[in-house]
Amino acid sequence: MSKNNVLLEAFNKAIYPVGSHSKRNIQVLKEVLNDSDGNLDSDVYGSGKLIENFQEEMATFLGKETAVFFPSGTMAQQIALRIWCDSKGSKKVAYHPLSHLEIHEEDGLKELHHIETILLGDKDRLIRLEDVLQMKDDIACLLIELPQREIGGQLPDYEELVAICTYCREKGIKLHLDGARLYEILPYYQRTAAEICELFDSVYISFYKGIGGIAGAILAGNEAFTKESKVWKRRYGGDLISLYPYILSSSYYFKRRLPKMNQYYQEAKVLAGYYNQCHGVVTKPLEPMTNMFHVHVDLPKEKLEPILVALYEETGVGLTHYVRESSETTCCYEVNIGDRFANIPKDELRRAFQWLDVKMREATGVNG
Ligand SMILES: Cc1ncc(COP(=O)(O)O)c(C=O)c1O
Repeated sequence: MSKNNVLLEAFNKAIYPVGSHSKRNIQVLKEVLNDSDGNLDSDVYGSGKLIENFQEEMATFLGKETAVFFPSGTMAQQIALRIWCDSKGSKKVAYHPLSHLEIHEEDGLKELHHIETILLGDKDRLIRLEDVLQMKDDIACLLIELPQREIGGQLPDYEELVAICTYCREKGIKLHLDGARLYEILPYYQRTAAEICELFDSVYISFYKGIGGIAGAILAGNEAFTKESKVWKRRYGGDLISLYPYILSSSYYFKRRLPKMNQYYQEAKVLAGYYNQCHGVVTKPLEPMTNMFHVHVDLPKEKLEPILVALYEETGVGLTHYVRESSETTCCYEVNIGDRFANIPKDELRRAFQWLDVKMREATGVNG
């Protein structure tokens, strides 16, 4: 068994797992179906009340004319960028070097659509207005991800976003929002989803990240844009005869968890505070801007893993199920706060972090 699995096993046995909402098991769907009317008609190839009502609800939430339900964000966003490229007659889009499209989609955009991608700014920081000002006008679309997941869920100032939007509008460059975790940024900006989406020509949101559904995405924009996106959805094989398990679960958890985003955000700040009191541990960002952050540890992965396994066994608190190597001497992992956090006795949590601090001091040779 690999060391990673030892950590995962220990995490699965922990009494108090810290991140996310629950185990990603079939109970997630069972709970939804127990709450659903069995006589409800299924959606059929993208039509029917069940899908159409949800699309309308989401269009209103996002302040857009129309919205389309997709099985995945990967499919929805490649399609969005293709549409904006076609409308400008330019096969160039720009995004962050660590965009999901660039690092997790096997070059779908390039291979399927022959779209050239311009990587804006530096991978360790957010895209800034100055990066956008240096872009050439022949870019069809700029994709902005809020929050920027791969750097711990950081967010730009709202004023900078507005300035980026104003510049792109002046230059005829479309702005697309990768809002996979859009809900999670609302407490930080203290704005509605519609207010934020107003800055963008198109937007994608996910239902299985902060919301905790099974899978699924919404792509929203104006009428002409979403009409074209439906044609591409068909071409991609995204019109499954029925998508209702995803739609029902999206709708169910959206209603239950959207109102709790501020709670998760406040809890993330508390948890990051505990981490930052530990020797050799720092969160990125130092103060979370959403319910997510990254934990960076001054120990090689192989040294941290046994400490974590022992921590879970000793205290019952499970901090993470995985650790990623960032260099020979450091490692990191991501934390997302969901429903689980509120159920952890805070004394147990404090004790776990005191224990971690002691072990980190021992492991790095620092005492006192
Ligand atoms: C920022 C971001 N964009 C897009 C996606 C793609 O979503 P999906 O898994 O639904 O294809 C993800 C998935 O993790 C993501 O984190």
